[in-house]
Amino acid sequence: MTNRTISIPTAAPMVSSFRCIACGVTRDNADHDFRCNDCGDLLEIFYPGWHSEKMAGNAAGFKALWRQRKTSRRAIDESGVWRFRELLPALRDWDQAITLHEGNTPLYNLPSSARMAGVKQLYAKHQGMNPTGSFKDTGMTVAASFARQGGFRWVACASTGNTSASMAAYAARSAMRSLVVIPEGKVSWAKLSQALDYGALTCELRTDFDGCMRVLNDVVKQWPVCLLNSVNPYRIEGQKTGAIELLEQFDWQVPDHVIVPGGNLGNCSALGKAFLELLDLGLITRLPKISVIQAEGANALLRSIREHGGKKLIAMQAQTAATAIRIGNPASWKKAVRVLQATGGIVEQASEIEIAQAKAEIGAEGIGCEPASAVTLAGLKKLVKQGFVKQNEIVVLILTGHLLKDPEFTLKFHRGDLFKGTEYEQQAAALSSHQRAPITLDPTADAVVEALEQAEKSIPQN
Ligand code: F0G
Repeated sequence: MTNRTISIPTAAPMVSSFRCIACGVTRDNADHDFRCNDCGDLLEIFYPGWHSEKMAGNAAGFKALWRQRKTSRRAIDESGVWRFRELLPALRDWDQAITLHEGNTPLYNLPSSARMAGVKQLYAKHQGMNPTGSFKDTGMTVAASFARQGGFRWVACASTGNTSASMAAYAARSAMRSLVVIPEGKVSWAKLSQALDYGALTCELRTDFDGCMRVLNDVVKQWPVCLLNSVNPYRIEGQKTGAIELLEQFDWQVPDHVIVPGGNLGNCSALGKAFLELLDLGLITRLPKISVIQAEGANALLRSIREHGGKKLIAMQAQTAATAIRIGNPASWKKAVRVLQATGGIVEQASEIEIAQAKAEIGAEGIGCEPASAVTLAGLKKLVKQGFVKQNEIVVLILTGHLLKDPEFTLKFHRGDLFKGTEYEQQAAALSSHQRAPITLDPTADAVVEALEQAEKSIPQN
């Protein structure tokens, strides 16, 4: 298409409404818990005006507009989320968006992991390269902006660490107070330190994430606080932009598979919603298969699908060293089931050993991610073996968190301590070729040169 045929749309605000995902009731406003008044299920945001002439039939115009904004110095154009604001709910004043220049994250190729998994083309969309180090920022900028527009003084979340870090940062940027409710001793100290630094009131409860969520749901009924967990549908809208940006990075060619870690299941819901909406609006002509990978010890979605066809959730006591996804009662499971069904994706699980190995393999490519993100590569290997992913297909892993989010996991892994005293100790011996523990030497050049010689000898010659 030539430039002459592209009409650049004007950034008209989009009217949005709430709809219950179960009973379909629609309403203009949501209650404090973002649940349906009639049946209690989750709400989603939809856009009744999308099929007006303004949106329909102008795919090229929108693509050009979003690209053009990358050269603008306006804060909402510099944001990789608000840049796509035609597909987001409209703020009363766009320039009141609370933004930390989130989004615009890199897409890397992973040639070595591709060989490991048995596919020719493997990419990582690294959402850990967001301002607070995780994908949560893309949803938080939208949800926090709407919380402030709604006049809230307090925002709150229960978290395995990343949501709290992100929420605390966006609250601090906008002079809102933040309440973080986390499971004591089950959140990496790197993430905890972020919440503290950004000034959150941080409550460590003697329970797990699911227990924290239960307590917070009660708090929300008693205190005027805006809930910023991913049941808040504004979070999901912001997280959609990861998918839009990914397509832009592929010049709007749709990859065959997108593989996402599954915890509370907001992210796969968001990415799926984005692809479905883009298809509906004619910006793409087919869908990728979206598959979800869970940790074996936190596999509520997998069990629900395998044992109940996705009709009923089997909540569980979750246990995994990938603490970000240590969730046994995922709030957005119904949304996730819909995405799997609509895109033809599947759910798989990865063991603790498989997660640790996959994380080391991604790290060895100079990319790095947190354990919860590495489940994607571990899961992909299985999907290739099962024949669900074919060798020639283009696969994208969504890396959700930065390597530095959980340094303790990485250090323990390389020192060989990660599985000491656990049921996995014997199996972990197989990981030794991936481990690169630091070596302590005398302070002489000779000692260091000898270490170099040893290292040179251990490099396979081919
Ligand atoms: N990866 C990372 C790094 C996460 O922090 C999370 C969730 C997930 C994957 C799973 O995403 O919940 O949308 O399925 N972390 C939440 C938190 C629960 O509190 O930070 P999901």
